[in-house]
Amino acid sequence: MEATTAAEMHWRCSLRRGCATRISVLMALAAVVMLAGGARADEYDHKYAMGDSFPLWVNKVGPYNNPQETYNYYELPFCKPHPEAKPVHKWGGLGEVLQGNELIDSQLEMRFRVDIPKRAVCQDPLDEKKVEHFKYAVQHHYWYELFVDDLPIWGFVGEHVTEGGESGGDGDSAKTYIYTHKSFDIAYSGHQIIQVNLTSENPRPLTPGTTLEFTYSVRWESTAIPFRRRFERYLDYNFFEHQIHWFSIFNSFMMVIFLTGLVSMILMRTLRNDYARYAREEDDLESLERDMSEESGWKLVHGDVFRPAPWLVLLSALVGTGAQLACLTLLVILLSIFGSLYVGRGAIVTALIVCYALTAFIGGYVSGGFYARNDGKSWIRCMLLTASLFPGTCFGIAFALNTIAIFYHSLAAVPFGSIVVVLLIWSFISFPLTLFGTVIGRNWNGTPDNPCRVKRIPSPIPNKRWYLKPWSVATVGGLLPFGAIFIELYFVFTSFWNYKVYYVYGFMLLVFLILIIVTICVTIVGTYFLLNAENYHWQWTAFGSAASTAVYVFLYSIHYFFMKTKMNGFFQTCFYFGYTLIFVIGLGIMCGAIGYLGSSAFVRRIYRYIKSD
Ligand SMILES: *[C@@H]1O[C@H](CO)[C@@H](O)[C@H](O)[C@H]1NC(C)=O
Repeated sequence: MEATTAAEMHWRCSLRRGCATRISVLMALAAVVMLAGGARADEYDHKYAMGDSFPLWVNKVGPYNNPQETYNYYELPFCKPHPEAKPVHKWGGLGEVLQGNELIDSQLEMRFRVDIPKRAVCQDPLDEKKVEHFKYAVQHHYWYELFVDDLPIWGFVGEHVTEGGESGGDGDSAKTYIYTHKSFDIAYSGHQIIQVNLTSENPRPLTPGTTLEFTYSVRWESTAIPFRRRFERYLDYNFFEHQIHWFSIFNSFMMVIFLTGLVSMILMRTLRNDYARYAREEDDLESLERDMSEESGWKLVHGDVFRPAPWLVLLSALVGTGAQLACLTLLVILLSIFGSLYVGRGAIVTALIVCYALTAFIGGYVSGGFYARNDGKSWIRCMLLTASLFPGTCFGIAFALNTIAIFYHSLAAVPFGSIVVVLLIWSFISFPLTLFGTVIGRNWNGTPDNPCRVKRIPSPIPNKRWYLKPWSVATVGGLLPFGAIFIELYFVFTSFWNYKVYYVYGFMLLVFLILIIVTICVTIVGTYFLLNAENYHWQWTAFGSAASTAVYVFLYSIHYFFMKTKMNGFFQTCFYFGYTLIFVIGLGIMCGAIGYLGSSAFVRRIYRYIKSD
């Protein structure tokens, strides 16, 4: 249990923030190694012998309505059994820290299969200040989180009762109580802890001048539930596997069939006529040219359609990053399905960071190849932008949120050591992989191979109706992909902001695949309309019409914030919109890149038979 390594000592030190400067590069690298698993003590194999003692960890407290506004358990003036002892922290991995967890040993004695009758923890003499603090907490529905053997336990700090007996009133007759007794019912099976119930009892009024005595008791019973199913009680089957969920998947699936049918019908029909004609007249160049001059529509712009897009560096970086994010999403969803990642605190965040760093190669490869094929000259700038665009945006938002969290003394503040670790991962894994990917992409995939040559002088773009302008195509483009995912979004948001454990990653995988197909189809249709309007600025339009999905998601998140949650206060509002912004930017880049790559394949396909002069 006391297997304390130097790295762990440093971690404790970094968690206390006081001695952050002592963090050495060495220790951070050690932490990288420990990233995936966390430390090793006998709590980690979850096996105990009769009478073994194990810790009860206290984690965080905060208002129930604001899931990110969390504080250290001892920010509330709870007394400690041994106030003079140095607090013992548990290090559980980078993801855990980034998610705002800080596990501190409660110093309560817990022994495997040893019942503990009601026992005093400590005495807490109440003065005006403490009473105010506790009252504020109880009136704002503060809840706290404890951990036993990696099982979370939740309880409310107290209750707010009006004389009539109904809770929640705040008139003069309202009384505020704090629970002083914690009763643990623990179920075990063999040598393992299966289930922990916490009952808060013995409410006491908060009156200055009195002394509260906090107590706890432990009762053990055996259970037949096997260890591997002990997390099932945290999963809300009725919510996640509700008919609506199945129905929405079915719905989106119908949309996919309809869209792919539509796309293939309209386009193949149009193209088949063209192909037939070109195949017939392939040798007859003269008649081809005559034909071309009579044509209107997409064929007319064959000399401009492969003109490199403006802002090429940015487009390459976005397409590369988006391809990387798509692979990352797929990878993390698969890992979650096969690894049951929802079980571990912060496991998904850790997986996201590690996989992001490892998939950086893909980002470099796609963006480097794309940039080289379009005759880009400053590939280093392109590589730097690919490596830093999305991480930089996330870091900027996270930095702003962190400043707010530090100001509020919230647990959501990421300690300096973890920031260093994230930066090290970026600079020693992600960045070199992007560079490597760029070099490989330029060499293997960087030769220009457009089917049509680009004319020297750009043709003018005829002024078409408003609905054929890039802006309107881009705006409409996001509607269908958004429609395909918004029910799933509701489930994801609800698990993120309303304390439900998201575990239906199979659904998520389906919705992700549906999203990809719908995005590609819609972008192709948009591109086709645009090219038919003789507007050859299709690259950014394709990117934008897929990325606009994210704008709708952002609008939906505003609706969700006001209608489905009771979040309030500056802190939580900033965190809600900050996290949402990161999510939406990532989604936008990913969809944009998927849409762009899809319509790029389409454009290359349809111009294949057009011989340019
Ligand atoms: C915990 O509570 C649940 C639901 O109330 C109950 O079914 C279970 O038996 C309890 N477990 C223990 C160990 O008391």
